[in-house]
Amino acid sequence: MSYADIDRFSFETVTRLIGLVIITVIFLDHVIKKAKDRPVTRSHDNFCSSPNCLRCNFVINLTQLKVKAGRQFLKNPRELERLGHWISDDVYEDEERKPTKFYLPELLSFPVIERGFHEKDVDFLETNWETIAREFEEISSTANFNQTNWTINSTPTGQWSVFYLINQGSEVMQNCKLCPETMTIVKSLDDLLYECSFGNVCFTVLEPGTSISAHYGPCNVRSRCHLGLQIPEGFELLVGSKTTTWSEGNCVLFDDSYFHSVECWRKTSGTRVVLMVDLWHFGLNPHERSAIQEIFPAVPTSENFQSKHE
Ligand SMILES: *[C@@H]1O[C@H](CO)[C@@H](O)[C@H](O)[C@H]1NC(C)=O
Ligand SMILES: *[C@@H]1O[C@H](CO)[C@@H](O)[C@H](O)[C@H]1NC(C)=O
Ligand SMILES: *[C@@H]1O[C@H](CO)[C@@H](O)[C@H](O)[C@H]1NC(C)=O
Repeated sequence: MSYADIDRFSFETVTRLIGLVIITVIFLDHVIKKAKDRPVTRSHDNFCSSPNCLRCNFVINLTQLKVKAGRQFLKNPRELERLGHWISDDVYEDEERKPTKFYLPELLSFPVIERGFHEKDVDFLETNWETIAREFEEISSTANFNQTNWTINSTPTGQWSVFYLINQGSEVMQNCKLCPETMTIVKSLDDLLYECSFGNVCFTVLEPGTSISAHYGPCNVRSRCHLGLQIPEGFELLVGSKTTTWSEGNCVLFDDSYFHSVECWRKTSGTRVVLMVDLWHFGLNPHERSAIQEIFPAVPTSENFQSKHE
């Protein structure tokens, strides 16, 4: 090292230290003075009452989350700059897009996400869709239906049933055992949102004529993927200002932090079935993924709820 190098080295070190001190002060100031739980209005028929459900439980302690986030942030401020902005700023919101728990700012977003952002995973799910559809047939056949752990919800327009394989980041063992091939497929996805309470994998079934009223998801850090398994005419997915629909053997990707709903305009439609898989948002770096896993760890299966989410 020359003297010039040493100078540059200490200059950078000092700059970095000053940066850290400033950020720490902003962070502590925020935690002490500003952090407070924010009230959010909920729509009427698509929330469960479980205290362990991250999406539906509105009494989270934001201060505690920000303290955890601050610990992660200080490990790698450069890669976690956006997390730093979440910690020190008020969460940005707009009417179209209002995640109820966690809004990482400055992530690129689209209501409906182009498959190119998750090309490899989407191709893999679509290549294997018939295997997944076959396992779905088995767990839903009349002979087996009562023997399996379906969660049945009633909406004002019809029945909505959910079969969780991964619920808030944890595998639902007794269900996974019944769908070994689907689990192998899902677990080999590159971007599976796993070991984090924002990650779910489930079959969701809408009886003919069933709609799901509009709501916001809990976060903006996932790309929600629906693989169409049985898609009758009449169902539409509305996300923000976009409308789309499913088709059998194909994936639809969307950002559920936008206001979204399912509308069924044909009371005599067939039954709609998709495999829902949460993927990490395509814009996150690896440090952000693992920081989010630390801040929002999987909810242990023993504490998990069984309720309705789409
Ligand atoms: C949130 O957590 C902080 C730190 O643990 C605690 O001081 C505060 O009382 C909690 N707030 C609520 C509303 O529980
Ligand atoms: C499944 O359960 C329902 C309601 O408990 C019952 O009416 C039906 O007969 C059962 N079906 C089978 C195949 O056991
Ligand atoms: C359904 O789930 C419960 C608890 O979650 C478990 O005790 C039971 O064995 C499961 N039933 C089947 C048929 O897997």
